[in-house]
Amino acid sequence: MAAPGDVVVVSNRGPVSFTRADDGSLIPLRGSGGLVSGLSPVVASTGALWVAAAMSDPDREAAAQGTMDVDGLRVRLVDIDAVTFTAAYEVVCNANLWFVHHGLFDATHRPAHDHRFDAAWASYRHVNVAMADAVAKEAPEGAVVLVQDYHLTLVARFLADLRPDLRCVHFTHTPFTDPDGLRLLPDAAATEMLAGLGAHVACGFHTQRWADRFVACCTERGVTAPPTFVAPLGPDPDDLASSAASPAVATASQAITSLAGGRRLVVRVDRIEPSKNIVRGLRAFDLLLTQYPQWREKVTFAAFIYPSRETLPEYLAYRQEATSTVAWVNERWGTADWVPVVANLGDDYPTSLAALGAYDVLLVNPIRDGLNLVAKEGPLLNGHDGVLVLSSEAGAADELGDAALVVNPFDLAATAEALHRALTMGDPERAERATALRSLAAAHSPHTWFDAQVAAAEPNGP
Ligand code: F6P
Repeated sequence: MAAPGDVVVVSNRGPVSFTRADDGSLIPLRGSGGLVSGLSPVVASTGALWVAAAMSDPDREAAAQGTMDVDGLRVRLVDIDAVTFTAAYEVVCNANLWFVHHGLFDATHRPAHDHRFDAAWASYRHVNVAMADAVAKEAPEGAVVLVQDYHLTLVARFLADLRPDLRCVHFTHTPFTDPDGLRLLPDAAATEMLAGLGAHVACGFHTQRWADRFVACCTERGVTAPPTFVAPLGPDPDDLASSAASPAVATASQAITSLAGGRRLVVRVDRIEPSKNIVRGLRAFDLLLTQYPQWREKVTFAAFIYPSRETLPEYLAYRQEATSTVAWVNERWGTADWVPVVANLGDDYPTSLAALGAYDVLLVNPIRDGLNLVAKEGPLLNGHDGVLVLSSEAGAADELGDAALVVNPFDLAATAEALHRALTMGDPERAERATALRSLAAAHSPHTWFDAQVAAAEPNGP
């Protein structure tokens, strides 16, 4: 297997982003998102080089420093012209590939591709070339290159010409669409994407479902699929425990206790993201209060939902819909002493950890999700034998399904029933399920996940 120093990680968002202080100096901030939080501790411990895109002007300025050491990580930010990067990231990645893989398009109206998509796809190709160039310059002889996610499907194809000594493995963090969904992309782009993925020695996914769909897409388009492997990410229980032991989490826990005010607590923690299905979750809670009056004034739904990708109109509209649904439920059922839904839109990590420690029920109901790390972090942090209500469409359901209450995310009535069942579940069953969830959630760590990708580069695979 490759020595740790001979591994290069490539991703769009890196472990560090920069902001400018009042005096003009650059301040490093920790990158956000599941990919970054999963990879950072492992990459720090292995000494692998991490190549990522510069995503803002301060990042582009920092990129001029070359390879940097930040919090024990060796990071190389790649400076790509802002207009090109924005077209690739926002138009191709966020507004199209994300929507295709998560099944979010309402095909009656969207997508409707015109010449602007072709221009944006050319930018996407350009970003992939720039990332391949940077890797080609930095990678040690014979290195294993771990390419992350849908932003960078073409890197291996370009690296094959520049550095045939490198072995590239791709890992997709999102779901993968099925062949019908893939038809929502222009044919040339869809086939180029599959051929780009086909240039890797192996392609990894969080669950067999997404691997099978990728192979089905390749088969339909006549692209030879490389070997696939399944390596679900899991949180590092020790890292989580030490974060949860911080004074900030202790303070936040007191706030959560007073927010609950002795009532039962349903919690969700998500980006405000259409695929997370926040609005249907609120409507299911409304249905719970309609069908089961005994829960009125007896349960609080704490929704920790933080804004994301607000340059996209769909995300702004979804945020608006989520907040107005919160207001609607509260107007409908709230009393002088009780606010049924408390929505917190601040991206506040200690408060999210405290809420995960305190829930009676955790609602994770995405429309479709590559994995969903919150579904694993919750059971590891929770101290109340809390029940997990989990969407069948989250990749994590394939691992946690036997211990969670699994729901169809489009079925409000079934979700409301599952919430009622979770809230009325007896202590022995709660304890049994919580014990099982803890062990399933800890079955895979960031280290086993990373090692599986490196092993996939070996001739005999993982
Ligand atoms: O699920 C894939 C992922 O890259 C996650 O790691 C991250 O939480 C999310 O998509 C958001 O990505 P970004 O903010 O970089 O577009």
